[in-house]
Amino acid sequence: MAQLPEPSPEARAHCAAVKAEIAARIAADGGWWSFHAYQDFVLHAPGLGYYSAGASKFGPSGDFVTAPELSPLFARTCASQLDLCLRVHGGDVLEFGPGTGRFAAEALGVFARLGTPLQRYRMLETSADLRARQRALLHAGAAAHGVHCEWLEALPERYTGVVFANEVLDAMPCERFEMRAGVPLRLGVALDERGEFLWQARVADGAREGDAEFSSQAKRRLAEASEPLPDGYRGEFHPGFDAWFAALAGMMRRGAVLIADYGLPRRHLLHAERAMGSLRCHYRHLAHDDPFSWPGLTDVTAWLDFTAVAESAARAGFDVAGFTTQAGFLLGGGIEAELAAALAQAGDERNASASRVALAHGARQLLLPGEMGEAVKFMLLTRDCDLSLPGFTFVDLLHSL
Ligand SMILES: C[S@@+](CC[C@H](N)C(=O)[O-])C[C@H]1O[C@@H](n2cnc3c(N)ncnc32)[C@H](O)[C@@H]1O
Repeated sequence: MAQLPEPSPEARAHCAAVKAEIAARIAADGGWWSFHAYQDFVLHAPGLGYYSAGASKFGPSGDFVTAPELSPLFARTCASQLDLCLRVHGGDVLEFGPGTGRFAAEALGVFARLGTPLQRYRMLETSADLRARQRALLHAGAAAHGVHCEWLEALPERYTGVVFANEVLDAMPCERFEMRAGVPLRLGVALDERGEFLWQARVADGAREGDAEFSSQAKRRLAEASEPLPDGYRGEFHPGFDAWFAALAGMMRRGAVLIADYGLPRRHLLHAERAMGSLRCHYRHLAHDDPFSWPGLTDVTAWLDFTAVAESAARAGFDVAGFTTQAGFLLGGGIEAELAAALAQAGDERNASASRVALAHGARQLLLPGEMGEAVKFMLLTRDCDLSLPGFTFVDLLHSL
């Protein structure tokens, strides 16, 4: 693992408080926590978790960069596709986990330009800190575009329109497993004699909360692995997708859900070549795979099993209407035209050449296979609505699920 930069004294103190609290709770719970419980705590525990305390997260002083932060072309191209959904079936936009609000700010500009029939741009954000940043960024812009921005505490009872989530599902807590003699053991967190975290695998025998759910979900997924997984293989799965889609189905009579995230179809994800799974931690723009390093200061994610996303959505009554790579979605959705328009506009600006270079660089990072172009996938789920988006026609990967 690369040498990580030292946090400031305040950040170290915060991290020490997170560690002490987790260690006390693990000890009180008999010396072991599922990884799901650990990840949920380090990301979301009120006042302590990465998303719920005040870490910078985004941008040069933060830990990672997402597509809307990299380039305005991402949101502009996605918004023109969302516009097509809204024209056909009407309703609002509901964005999950809007981050800094950058996607929403760009999308509202596109909706104003295209005359999209949209009343409300609604957002559901678990982080109070990020909600405040979103409000600060969107307040003036949304008023100028005549669209009402609304922050929700929970899902509405009834909803028609589109739901959008970029890099949100991979921040949902996952279970980890380790293969031994063909059996998935539940990989969790224990304490060594100095009170430091260590990995500990145990048989999911029903003695712990969540064991039965772990066993049934692991068994179902592993039955479809491309080949038997070797001893010591470690992998992850997100057990919360069924509940997430059931909640969406409960509120949504008609509409579409567009998801963009790092991930693969199951048979590519559960593969002997990925023997250490897909857990990814981000701290100050360094990616590593040790979630015990600087807990509370580090983002912890795992790639999505998109076959599982499709299955959960179908169980809840959605149709799987599209699956492709980010490059496929953006190219099919018209990023070239957005780039040409942005370059032409940059020609009128004082710092024209710097703006043009930034636009071209952003487009490359969004599209190139070695950057985000292939690792991130887009999936469209529809409910009681017939929708075909150009973003899914350029590269159609539905057969790979
Ligand atoms: C990696 S950031 C992505 C932010 C933004 N979508 C973007 O692309 O820049 C994850 C976002 O999801 C939010 N989040 C995490 N879990 C969530 C959940 N269960 N419901 C809603 N938002 C969530 C985080 O607070 C954060 O805003």
